[in-house]
Amino acid sequence: MSANGRPVKVAILGLGGRGVESYGQWFLRHRDLATVVAVAEPLEHRRETFADRAGVPAGARYAAWPALLDDSERLGLDAVVIALPDRVHVEPAVAAAERGLAILLEKPMATDEGALRDLETRLRGLAPRVAVAHVLRETPFWRSVHGVLGDGLIGEPVTLRMEENIGFWHFAHSYVRGNWRNTAESSPMVLAKTCHDLDIIRWLAGSAPLTVTSVGGLAHFRPENAPEGAPTHCVHGCPAAGTCPFHAPRYYADALADVDGWPVALLGPDVSREGRLAALAEGPYGRCVYRSDNDVVDHQQTVFAFPGGLTATLTTSAFTGANTRTIQITGTRGELSGRMETGELRLQRFSPAETGPPPVGYEVTSGTAGPLGHRVDEWHALPPASESGDHRGHGGGDDALVERFVRAVAGGDFEARVTTTLAASLDSHWMAFAAERSRRGGSVVTLADVRP
Ligand SMILES: NC(=O)c1ccc[n+]([C@@H]2O[C@H](COP(=O)([O-])OP(=O)(O)OC[C@H]3O[C@@H](n4cnc5c(N)ncnc54)[C@H](O)[C@@H]3O)[C@@H](O)[C@H]2O)c1
Repeated sequence: MSANGRPVKVAILGLGGRGVESYGQWFLRHRDLATVVAVAEPLEHRRETFADRAGVPAGARYAAWPALLDDSERLGLDAVVIALPDRVHVEPAVAAAERGLAILLEKPMATDEGALRDLETRLRGLAPRVAVAHVLRETPFWRSVHGVLGDGLIGEPVTLRMEENIGFWHFAHSYVRGNWRNTAESSPMVLAKTCHDLDIIRWLAGSAPLTVTSVGGLAHFRPENAPEGAPTHCVHGCPAAGTCPFHAPRYYADALADVDGWPVALLGPDVSREGRLAALAEGPYGRCVYRSDNDVVDHQQTVFAFPGGLTATLTTSAFTGANTRTIQITGTRGELSGRMETGELRLQRFSPAETGPPPVGYEVTSGTAGPLGHRVDEWHALPPASESGDHRGHGGGDDALVERFVRAVAGGDFEARVTTTLAASLDSHWMAFAAERSRRGGSVVTLADVRP
């Protein structure tokens, strides 16, 4: 409910994977809290399908976002969700802020240093209410990690090691064939994929890093690695169909036969087996992974040095079986490690004085003795399962972020309630740009030289 007792009136700009599945579905399930009163989406089938489900009136279905924002007063909008492609974030964000609307803005906020500087400059003075979709901060897993550090349970953090294990199939989908394959069309991998990880590292460290050093490149998904005789699209008789890990029909038509949402929905409106195979014969998701126009890195390792001595690393790889994030933080009095996908967390405390379970808000499943008799506790920080038994997008972070956003708009206490405000989120992007500068230039980059 808004401050005057009615549901918050929201418009969604962009009805792709995020606009529909991460945000739209939430709004459909929570009509008491918010109503989608307008949408903007150029693809008719996406626009009409969602608008019909949400009950958006015919006069509030727009093909492009500027016309919708021009009508914001007539529509009585309180807020807008910007789920447009990466390169279409700055202009609608500024336009929405100029109209006094609260904004849920997809990451990345901007795709290069100049665009981010431009966004910051133009929003200054508008008192913007922006919640950036750094959804991981809202997950039980990362909140638990943050809580352990905040409570001083491992003493002073000394090293932080984070791994972004993208998963070979997910990498091929999004970063070889899909929207984020090409830096000029979207943004570097370190921003597009790992601004979430950078945001978490920044949040856990409690400050921005002093220096950033990064190496990495595109090792595998290159033309010279194509199997002999491989056609442009897998379905056109590829001789490596039986052995290639990235053979498209095995993924989209076989393994995901029962799925009609992400990532299958991106193939096109016809999700029947025939429809999928037709889309794979010509469309981007059927391309040979060695013959795409991809240029983003498939592996990257970055080192950060923070004030006070903490050092952190982020390893990103396409070549992992699972799609998950893992972490290890060592501190002067303990060690915390975890795996996001399963919610597993393991806390070791070195002092013999630590005898009870940690006050983490979860049931600690075991407390065993380490080599010197020190305490080892394990627990799972997972969101409650939904009715369908899954944990919804990003370990529960998507749902929690939208709810926090809507309640903050309704409550009129936006800055106090939202954890991923513009100010809180900027460092993650500057860290990404610093990493990319370092990777390309082969040098140590001082963050202060990148950030304005
Ligand atoms: N927070 C996260 O974890 C997360 C995860 C995935 C994607 N994203 C980000 O969310 C954004 C959207 O990603 P997606 O996966 O939904 O992409 P998508 O391509 O599936 O959806 C984007 C939609 O915007 C539409 N569009 C393009 N130009 C438009 C315009 N001018 N006006 C209105 N609509 C327009 C497209 O037709 C498409 O339907 C991207 O910036 C992406 O990086 C964030």
